[in-house]
Amino acid sequence: MCGIIGFTGNIEAKEVLLQGLTALEYRGYDSAGISFFPENGSDHKVQTIKTVGKVSNLIDKVSSLSAGPSFCGIGHTRWATHGGVSETNCHPHHFGRVTLIHNGIIENYKELQEELEGEGKYPVSQTDSEIAAMVIDSCYKNNPLKAIKRAVKKLQGAYAFCIMFDEYPESIYAIRNGSPLVATNTKEGSIIASDMVALIKYSKDYFVLPEHHIAHLTKDSITITDLEHNEVEPDMLHVSWDMAAARKGGYEYFMLKEIHEQPEALHNTIAPRIKNQLPDFTTDGIPDSLFNGLNRIIITACGTAMHAGLIGKNMIEQLTRVPVTVDIASEFRYQDPILDANTLVITISQSGETADTLAALRLAKENGARTLSVVNVKGSSIARESDYVLYTHAGPEIAVASTKAYTVQLAAMYLVAFRFALVKGSVSQDVIRNYIRELEAVPEFVKTMLGCDRAIQPISQKLLKTESLFFIGRGLDHALSCEGSIKLKEISYIHSEAYAAGELKHGTISLITDNVPVIALATQEKVFAKMISNIREVRSRGAMVIMIANEDAQVDAALCDHLITLPPIDNAFAPFGAAVVLQYIAYYTAVARGLNVDQPRNLAKSVTVE
Ligand code: AGP
Repeated sequence: MCGIIGFTGNIEAKEVLLQGLTALEYRGYDSAGISFFPENGSDHKVQTIKTVGKVSNLIDKVSSLSAGPSFCGIGHTRWATHGGVSETNCHPHHFGRVTLIHNGIIENYKELQEELEGEGKYPVSQTDSEIAAMVIDSCYKNNPLKAIKRAVKKLQGAYAFCIMFDEYPESIYAIRNGSPLVATNTKEGSIIASDMVALIKYSKDYFVLPEHHIAHLTKDSITITDLEHNEVEPDMLHVSWDMAAARKGGYEYFMLKEIHEQPEALHNTIAPRIKNQLPDFTTDGIPDSLFNGLNRIIITACGTAMHAGLIGKNMIEQLTRVPVTVDIASEFRYQDPILDANTLVITISQSGETADTLAALRLAKENGARTLSVVNVKGSSIARESDYVLYTHAGPEIAVASTKAYTVQLAAMYLVAFRFALVKGSVSQDVIRNYIRELEAVPEFVKTMLGCDRAIQPISQKLLKTESLFFIGRGLDHALSCEGSIKLKEISYIHSEAYAAGELKHGTISLITDNVPVIALATQEKVFAKMISNIREVRSRGAMVIMIANEDAQVDAALCDHLITLPPIDNAFAPFGAAVVLQYIAYYTAVARGLNVDQPRNLAKSVTVE
């Protein structure tokens, strides 16, 4: 949430900041702003330009003001937490000699504000971030490092700050607690940002700023010190993707591009973990001992990642007979979970920075559970803090609606299930080999499914004016319905519910009337007959039924208005193909409604507040 960037170097800073903010916009897009020191600026006066709305508004405003050259500055694209969307609440915030951008939430801002007001200092905005700028300014006596060190002792909550001090017009200081910051020094200068998409133009090598360490960026170097002023060498990381991955590449939206990237992302996630037709985590450094003696698995995650957990649960339980529960991460901490050394807690997260999931992971560790995370972003907090990490290799996911991250998470969870079953000896190697064969075929299967877009587009036209609809399914199809429903809601703003098909008759079927759309998933053979009965129940009450079933299933033409079929594949792998259908339904419906698919209202990628 909120994209932040800082640059100091020997090229035009405003350009670096604006390009960076454009790339980071998916993290928050209700307002944006930059502050910079003009070259040879008189008496160190920092200049600030802010606007509400998209980064493109800010770009227009900056060019209309034709500010002179600058080589050092900071920029922010906001997802409002404290204080509404307004230019005053927009970052950067300036107070005294301090200019600051912030990603996170300062929890004790009220007390700090009262303290400051007691000293006759009043904020102009309603933000907790401005209070942070005021606290740093009040701790500042010409030594930025000491001021930051003193200030963070007073601040409670999550933060990533980039800070400029009037007396140091070529320097940027940064510190973080919880919220992410990555940085790199290149021939152009030093750059720091919320994530790699803003840095990739300049370097594939970077480091994650360690928590509670201060980075001092100058055009020539980045120095990192801990809070005792000891210099620390950062661990350098490398990304394998490039600029093209962070661009739309001819697609109208990132979401569509990312839907199409699934075969490759799946291949990259699956192939390196298969040796001799068996799952192998050697290169991930995950030892078999992780699975020894386990009596329970808890999967915890949020949103789409949690939905991937629901599918993973099914496969793990089926193959190992070890009980698995799936918990929403934002609830996990508050339900006093039962955890011990024989419990494995698996956290799933695309960003690796979701605050609720991170908090759940920390709780699991505190209580002695073993931890494994399935994460897409290298070096992210969840990846670093887990005992072990199984990276998905989806490349950057920029659309707020998660698509490729979901299917690679499914693949990763299946690999975990297979390896665990192998270590436990709960099924034979031949059974695992068969599953692996099917998993290896998934990228090709998904590629075939990408061709169903033509069939989906007319269906989306029919859903255009719908106010509410239902996704129904049984077993794996119910788990997948949850994902179909969140996808449609978040980008098309059509209300929907995912329901276990057999549960409808216990109340919710009263909402099924003439032409209410029902998207019925019927890909699971063992519950197919029951599912057909459930479809008949809604059909006979007037529902408009869109059915997703296997190619070889016997489907009575009168049962549905639209039928989308999946090519033959083992039932356990049907979710990979059906997920594409649901992604397309959400995508084309949102496009038909004229919405900005990549940046849905009220949302942001990577939810770093609890
Ligand atoms: C998915 O479409 C959502 N935007 C959202 O539910 C997301 O999956 C969730 O916030 C978890 O994010 P993470 O995978 O980065 O932890």
